[in-house]
Amino acid sequence: MKKVFVSLEYPGEAVGRLAEKYEVVVFREERLPTRRELLEGAAGSSAVISTVADSIDREFIDLLPDLKIVSNCGVGYENVDVAYATEKGVMVTNTPDVLTETTADLAWALIFAVARRVVEADTYVRSGKFKTWHPSLLMGRNVHGKTLGVFGMGRIGSAVARRASGFGMKVLYHNRRRNEVSEKETGAEYAEFPRLLEESDFLVIASPLNDGTRGRFGAEEFRKMKRSSIIVNVGRGPIIKEAELAAALEEGVIWGAGLDVYEKEPEVDPGLLHLPNTVLLPHIGSAARETREDMIDMAVTSVELALDGKTPEHIVNPEVLERPK
Ligand code: DGY
Repeated sequence: MKKVFVSLEYPGEAVGRLAEKYEVVVFREERLPTRRELLEGAAGSSAVISTVADSIDREFIDLLPDLKIVSNCGVGYENVDVAYATEKGVMVTNTPDVLTETTADLAWALIFAVARRVVEADTYVRSGKFKTWHPSLLMGRNVHGKTLGVFGMGRIGSAVARRASGFGMKVLYHNRRRNEVSEKETGAEYAEFPRLLEESDFLVIASPLNDGTRGRFGAEEFRKMKRSSIIVNVGRGPIIKEAELAAALEEGVIWGAGLDVYEKEPEVDPGLLHLPNTVLLPHIGSAARETREDMIDMAVTSVELALDGKTPEHIVNPEVLERPK
């Protein structure tokens, strides 16, 4: 019987489907598997359902001679050595689309939380400080009517931009390539990177991590942004140089930040932790029950297809099909 290893437990019934045909081993602790637990748990597997937190590298792939598919439960897959998987005839799949709208919702939650100081205000009430209404109590910034900048106009960036029309906002975006479909759909205007920095009131990062985006936002970029601006990151942590962001926030170079992802996740730069103008979330962009069920369902479907000798829909290394295992 073929073995499938699932590196974490998921809500919903999808993983149960696999147990009808395969030996299924699920890492059921409420924490990530250690490297050793990952390697031991996955030993002998033909398929692995992994997450962004599992390093699926050469060592891992070499230890699993029967491996046919790494089904990564998430849209990002920088945790997988895709080139090496391809070389070894291993399919790699991800779970796009199903989490797009959910992640865009969270970007807006961060925009509002930072702009209107929602977390600070909640703490203020809970700690018994609310004694009277006052005209200058916890003043934030307006969102409506401002300029939204989107860095990375893919699926999630476009969904973030689409929501802006309800708030009467102008939308600028920067992308490796112009996205004319999204321009038509959202009314967004393409901007060169310096213009995006200079004109955005809210700058949302929604791009994947790659050589072109790693470390793209640092002290120099923050200095070009408006002092009243807010930066939000729902893409990947290493796109921002986190220590430089902490310094920029501390010095008032920009007004605030909302982060769902971190440079050295799950570590957070200590300089950010005490800043009131920063909202910090633990990478929950797609963490809505329905979405998480859809993601694991998609990841399981990819495994079922691959082990049946078929091609999964969301294969990120289609060139592997020319060198089947
Ligand atoms: C994604 O889907 O890439 C999320 O960030 C979780 O990995």
